[in-house]
Amino acid sequence: MPDTIPMMGLGTYGRLEEEGIRAILSALEIGYRHIDTAQSYGSEPSVGEAVRRSGLDRDDVFITTKVAQKKLDRAQFLPSVETSLKDLQVDVIDLVLIHWPSIDPDVPFESYMEDLGRIQDQGKARHIGVSNFPIARLKQAEEILGSGRIHTDQVEIHPFLQNNKLVDFALSKGITPTAYMPLAQGRVADDPLLQEIAEKHDASASQVSLAWLMQRGIAVIPASASAERQKSNFDAQKIVLSKSDMERIATLDRGFRIVVPEVGPDWD
Ligand SMILES: NC(=O)c1ccc[n+]([C@@H]2O[C@H](COP(=O)([O-])OP(=O)(O)OC[C@H]3O[C@@H](n4cnc5c(N)ncnc54)[C@H](OP(=O)(O)O)[C@@H]3O)[C@@H](O)[C@H]2O)c1
Repeated sequence: MPDTIPMMGLGTYGRLEEEGIRAILSALEIGYRHIDTAQSYGSEPSVGEAVRRSGLDRDDVFITTKVAQKKLDRAQFLPSVETSLKDLQVDVIDLVLIHWPSIDPDVPFESYMEDLGRIQDQGKARHIGVSNFPIARLKQAEEILGSGRIHTDQVEIHPFLQNNKLVDFALSKGITPTAYMPLAQGRVADDPLLQEIAEKHDASASQVSLAWLMQRGIAVIPASASAERQKSNFDAQKIVLSKSDMERIATLDRGFRIVVPEVGPDWD
């Protein structure tokens, strides 16, 4: 198991009960070794069960989870991580993220960043990181925890929302960005330019989107319930895009953001 986040992972939003367990198990059988979940998805028990059934060594699977926005206060933070450990059936979680910065004025930023550092110090998380943090929040997080502690910032990134400012900042700090919705929830499949580039590589537009992200140094966590699409997404790791392919895909950026919560952070 590498000591850093694997570039290819499986998203598990909506993977619940037996059907969810089977979908995660099929991804593990294909070769996925990085599984992304969150307290708020309810998929932690499915992940724990799928990893157990896979028979893989615990150390061979990199598991990421996220502390829910509602659990960031001092009273709930640590107990929520204990519950995640139990649901995931593990002694230590590979990567624990803050899912969204808190919007509750009674929950200070310092408090949950300190708790995040504490769970790593206590050996409950091998790595720690954040999600949906703009640059200003990332800087603040590093001020509190010290540089080099934040492993990833998981944010929405796909060809239609390229997030270049944030990606460049994170990479300059040695933080690997993780792209959620790397397929723009399936929309990239219909893009004519991605399709044209895909044809050259005997690939699909979805694979090209994933390859483009990974070649920029961004980890990806596409989700699929279908074993066939999981395999196709996984195989995107074999594609090598040319400089000209990369430059053409860069032109698709149009600031198209899918996840827009009522009270979100000020994005870069
Ligand atoms: N940190 C956060 O705040 C946050 C927010 C959103 C999501 N996430 C994470 O990111 C993961 C991925 O996000 P997402 O599922 O919303 O979006 P996504 O991975 O961009 O897209 C998934 C959708 O695309 C379809 N799909 C998958 N592979 C395909 C392929 N090769 N060709 C065509 N269609 C394909 C899937 O359908 P089928 O299932 O039918 O294949 C599904 O409808 C989530 O599961 C979650 O783990 C994190």
